[in-house]
Amino acid sequence: MTTTMPSSDNVLRTDYQKSVAAYWNAEKDPVNIRLGEVDGFFHHHYGIGDYDPSVLQGPEETREARIIEELHRLESAQAQVLIDHLGDIRPEDRIQDTGSGRGGTSFMANQRFGCYVDGVSISQQQVDFSNEQARDRGVDDKVRFHFRNMLDTGFETGSMRASWNNESTMYVDLYELFSEHARLLRYGGRYVTITGCYNDVTGGRSKAVSRIDEHYTCNVHPRSAYFKAMAANNLVPISVVDLTADTIPYWELRAQSSVATGVEDPFLTAYKEGSFHYLLIAADKV
Ligand SMILES: C[S@@+](CC[C@H](N)C(=O)[O-])C[C@H]1O[C@@H](n2cnc3c(N)ncnc32)[C@H](O)[C@@H]1O
Repeated sequence: MTTTMPSSDNVLRTDYQKSVAAYWNAEKDPVNIRLGEVDGFFHHHYGIGDYDPSVLQGPEETREARIIEELHRLESAQAQVLIDHLGDIRPEDRIQDTGSGRGGTSFMANQRFGCYVDGVSISQQQVDFSNEQARDRGVDDKVRFHFRNMLDTGFETGSMRASWNNESTMYVDLYELFSEHARLLRYGGRYVTITGCYNDVTGGRSKAVSRIDEHYTCNVHPRSAYFKAMAANNLVPISVVDLTADTIPYWELRAQSSVATGVEDPFLTAYKEGSFHYLLIAADKV
């Protein structure tokens, strides 16, 4: 279904995109690697749900391993909730993981539906890592990862039954992004995102949200921008779920772990002061 093999120059079109790609090519944060090693599903997103407080108790020697496993359970639960919103996907359907990281959500979706999954990332390292995982899992006939720009994937118009962004919308212009999703989705196809967004009601980007942007070299969008850009691109919301209260326990546990990266305090501050939300939005293409 793909056309030409993209070169680095036409995938990474701006200095900003090159810097984002460089970040993810170099990224080896233990919070992403050690959690994935628990069961081989590697995620670069956050978790939801209450944590089991007993992981913080018990023998000191095994405490760290218990916390890592618990954080991984919460990030896997997040991906399951996203997949729950993709709708009725059949084995012959094709779906897109947009900004696919090391592929964890793609493999879980393929496991759930038996469908084709195309992951796209501007990090060649991530694409290579995930394609190797697909071969090791024996699903490379159905799950494939591509070095592509999510704003211009090159995939065929109307070819996707569903597509999603799991924490990857804050790197791009939402109008350009949703225009590409609307092009790729067939009529009635489902779009889902889980994302952090800042609160229009509290008025502008808070200091804590600015620290998150700075940490990841990204640009968190206001909540309103999602709905405006969806409406402008024939994407009609069907579910909006505020996951903010559900993600706070993940951050509280992570702040007490050896895999904390320093961004825990801005996230907890932003969520608790109300300047930032963790939202799931599902929309249908009409
Ligand atoms: C925070 S990670 C999320 C990864 C994955 N969705 C997950 O849940 O594990 C952000 C991802 O977006 C990708 N990304 C950022 N800008 C992109 C772009 N313009 N085109 C394609 N991928 C992009 C990065 O390479 C990275 O894989």
